[in-house]
Amino acid sequence: MTKPQINLYYKNVTVDILGEEHGITAAQLKGLAQKTEPLISRLNRERKDGKTPYRDLPFKAEISQKVKSLVAEIKDGCENLVLLGIGGSALGNIALQTALNPYLYNIDNQQRRGPRLFVFDNVDPVQFDSFLEWIDDQLDKTIFNVISKSGQTSETAAQFLIVREILLDRLGANGLRNQIVTTTDAGEGTLHEITRDLGFRNLEVPEGVGGRFSVLSAVGLFSAAMCGIDIDLLLEGARDMDKRVSSEDFYKNPAVINAAINYYFYNHGKKISVMMPYSYHLKDLADWYRQLWAESLGKSYALDGSEVHIGPTPVKALGATDQHSQIQLYREGPNDKLFTFLQVNNFDKNIKIGPAPDCAPELDYLASRTLSTLLNNEKKATEYALLVNKRPCLTVIFPEVNEYTVGQFIYLYEVTTSLAGALFGIDPYDQPAVELGKEATFALMGKPGKEYKELRHKIQSLTDIDTTCLV
Ligand code: PA5
Repeated sequence: MTKPQINLYYKNVTVDILGEEHGITAAQLKGLAQKTEPLISRLNRERKDGKTPYRDLPFKAEISQKVKSLVAEIKDGCENLVLLGIGGSALGNIALQTALNPYLYNIDNQQRRGPRLFVFDNVDPVQFDSFLEWIDDQLDKTIFNVISKSGQTSETAAQFLIVREILLDRLGANGLRNQIVTTTDAGEGTLHEITRDLGFRNLEVPEGVGGRFSVLSAVGLFSAAMCGIDIDLLLEGARDMDKRVSSEDFYKNPAVINAAINYYFYNHGKKISVMMPYSYHLKDLADWYRQLWAESLGKSYALDGSEVHIGPTPVKALGATDQHSQIQLYREGPNDKLFTFLQVNNFDKNIKIGPAPDCAPELDYLASRTLSTLLNNEKKATEYALLVNKRPCLTVIFPEVNEYTVGQFIYLYEVTTSLAGALFGIDPYDQPAVELGKEATFALMGKPGKEYKELRHKIQSLTDIDTTCLV
């Protein structure tokens, strides 16, 4: 049986619809193909040389095997799974859960295929306190998955220390050991040391895979498998997409077309890239994409050392909700955006709209239509409205939302990011600018060391609020 393939539609950015000065002509597309085809070969070579280990994750059966045996060992009796992690150690997990489990998963026991899932990717005291109060009498039925490649990240470290103290206090050292699973670097780092010392069950963040490229490793697979998501199908989707995005023929490779169109429009004034899913299930994939795109492509320096300050700004919007919030700006504000819609052709469920009351015949047009028809027509209507204002639009079509298509989407966007990095001439795998904020937090929180003391003084002189200016 042929499996449903997601597809990228780019007809709307051609001259047919937009007019030459706002779209891409067939000749321009051909020029982009000539520029980018050698980059695909380069990426394929780099992959063979082991420089992009994230590309191999869907092929590593040992990762999913280890995840599945741990799940089999601890799932029974686990009522709650609590993830402590941030950035690349949380966004993929959230995206998978929203995409592939029902809306009321945590609330409706009939719909749950595993423990309730809670992801804490922030350190808001009020939020965490209210959760800790709720979970207080269920600690022995709760697994805490601490995810941190480094173990140094202050948000995750602080949450871990709070939970550790509570578990020790309530359940003792054995309880602490039983209720925690860590996911961290295999060979080094603070969480690695803690895991070894305290004897926690452990999964690995594979070497050379950055947080934002790690969702198809144990980082994302463990919570997914615990919550009943078919991780084999997810990885199969990614593997099948790997064939398509390895093609050295521009016109057959959706990742290179996607990267090239984004690159072209960035260089033609569209510095903002809006991803707008028309599906509740897909909404958090847009959040995952936002980190992937921003951390990978926003860079000061090109590979040749020149100063470039480059990178499209990713923005998340949700259809149809944001039609009533953002579209005024998107149509009439600055023409600086490229839009990527995520469209679902067949929704799992559908609802027929009821008849209009006699006093409101103006609502008759809705009667007997379905919500999916309304949602997809709203997508089409928004796209049309944007095109009228010469705003370029792409669409990624999901024939349906399931593990297989979501696996394809994740892999498509990861490789698109690598190719966009190659086009922009930057390193998409580092994130040097994130480090200063982390270091500054260490300094402000009183981490010992001369360098932190000096940094603390610098920060204070720059950021202390001059209260004489208050009105
Ligand atoms: O993508 C990244 O590399 C970051 O978002 C990290 O995942 C994030 O900073 C958390 O780091 P760590 O996993 O070391 O706690």
